[in-house]
Amino acid sequence: MEGKTPTETHIQDHTYKVFPNDLNSKGTAFGGMIMSQLDRLAAVVAERHSGQTCVTASVDSMHFLAPAHRGDHLIFKVSMNHAWRTSMEIGAKVYAEDPRSGERRHMVSVYFTFVAINDNEKPTPVPPLICETRDEKRRSEEAQIRRERRKAEAEETKERRADQI
Ligand SMILES: CC(C)(COP(=O)(O)OP(=O)(O)OC[C@H]1O[C@@H](n2cnc3c(N)ncnc32)[C@H](O)[C@@H]1OP(=O)(O)O)[C@@H](O)C(=O)NCCC(=O)NCCS
Repeated sequence: MEGKTPTETHIQDHTYKVFPNDLNSKGTAFGGMIMSQLDRLAAVVAERHSGQTCVTASVDSMHFLAPAHRGDHLIFKVSMNHAWRTSMEIGAKVYAEDPRSGERRHMVSVYFTFVAINDNEKPTPVPPLICETRDEKRRSEEAQIRRERRKAEAEETKERRADQI
């Protein structure tokens, strides 16, 4: 299978304007709307890379570092960090941009794992990721560390559940 580079599939500056129907009861952008947008965009990157239908397997913990306000522009940056056998880690960052000053605040960073699915609904192999730049290589190495951590956490959770039964 021929590999792809992150720049062949990434989403660089997807921009969304926050309107009143996007607000929570405190009057700032509703986190669930941002999470939904992120999941969709990450799915696009996973499907561009794999050429298959992809499902969300997991989302790493997500912290909202700053709020976005009515009228702000949300800037989404989404790209492939690592491709394993059938799964891929996609990293996403969101900035809130003030429309008047142009100032950008970092709102959210998050990592998704997507799995490519074949016509029989089974996980199916994906092309390798070709990392060329120093940043791409760093992101790929960090993704590998996170994968090991996720696996260890999943194992711990399984053992804890087994103990509770
Ligand atoms: C994700 C899913 C396809 C994995 O299926 P599975 O039968 O457990 O598959 P496997 O154990 O063979 O694992 C397949 C790959 O998924 C990865 N994976 C499975 N569960 C995972 C999880 N919770 N987090 C991260 N990766 C996971 C495995 O590491 C493996 O990766 P690799 O092939 O690159 O090494 C399955 O659990 C599923 O369909 N979940 C529901 C997905 C969904 O409905 N999402 C929301 C709507 S899109």
